[in-house]
Amino acid sequence: MFKTIEWKNGQVRFLDQRQLPLKEYFIETNDFRVVAQAISNLGLRGAPLIGVGAAYGMALGAQEGLKIHLDRFYSFLESVDQTLRSTRPTAVNLFWALDRMKKIWKDAEKQGVSPKKCAEELIEEAITIHNEDIETNQNIAKQGASLVEDQDAILTHCNAGALACSAWGTALGVIYWAALQERKKLTVYADETRPLLQGARLTTFELLKNHIPVTLITDNMAGYLMAQGRVHKIIVGADRIAANGDTANKIGTYSLAVLASHHHIPFYIAAPLSTIDIHIASGEDIPIEEREPEEVFHFGESRTAPQGIEAWNPAFDVTPHHLIRAIITEKGILYPPFVEKLTLLKQNE
Ligand code: MRU
Repeated sequence: MFKTIEWKNGQVRFLDQRQLPLKEYFIETNDFRVVAQAISNLGLRGAPLIGVGAAYGMALGAQEGLKIHLDRFYSFLESVDQTLRSTRPTAVNLFWALDRMKKIWKDAEKQGVSPKKCAEELIEEAITIHNEDIETNQNIAKQGASLVEDQDAILTHCNAGALACSAWGTALGVIYWAALQERKKLTVYADETRPLLQGARLTTFELLKNHIPVTLITDNMAGYLMAQGRVHKIIVGADRIAANGDTANKIGTYSLAVLASHHHIPFYIAAPLSTIDIHIASGEDIPIEEREPEEVFHFGESRTAPQGIEAWNPAFDVTPHHLIRAIITEKGILYPPFVEKLTLLKQNE
């Protein structure tokens, strides 16, 4: 699997996903602003990876604070935290990871810990968050593979693979485990995922690298594919799951879930516990990122729409819990009703 991100000699090294699949270009930086910008512009993307990236961003900020802002170390950390928090609003993994980091530096500040020791602790915590994500990915993959049968045709949306996480991915992790470890023969369909083409650029790219055959479709082909009986299961990732199981994921996911319900196709969400936001009762309260209209006016680099029009560009939508057959987590597969099970899992996290 890819090393999408790593901590190397006091720097963060990550794959710039904007350039895929044409170039495999890695950015190495000691500047948390570069990490923050990459999260905003989707160089670093996918809910779990955004969390890991933000944690490393905080670690870089602590190093910079030690070198340049020693006299106001903790207030500098506060500004680093704010910068990272304002990058993207929907994936709760960002806030989950930054909250974990914040607990470390707030405790250190309260206890009068030296900035040097605090920076060391922050680096250690970021590496721990990263390593935990690798283990979590593997457990989601194993759990989910039990739902997959030999000869299944699986449709997925956006990219919830190794590129979106630290190792196997979530939805694609399930596919990898079933195909590569359990040797099940699968057909995989990837939605193109307009406007930023994560399905066409990233999902096909990583499946190909792992020798899993994949068929690309444009988003508007999914209904017809299902009507033909060519999809047995749909598995997607998540950016935020509310307490009742309503799930925000890449725009287009909701349409797939409605189509799946119409065609009696099981619709699964695969996500780590870090994606569950128990403080939000239902999907209505999940903040949905709206991005620049420019993304809709263009296909790749080429403008496809005339000048002088408007575009609406929500990056995510919310699938209501009643359309979800099960949520695959690292701690097990949850079936409806979700609310008590999600709450219990989060309490024991
Ligand atoms: O805008 P992106 O590319 O960050 O959106 C990613 C998704 O919607 C993924 O499906 C989700 O983050 C799950 S990744 C395991």
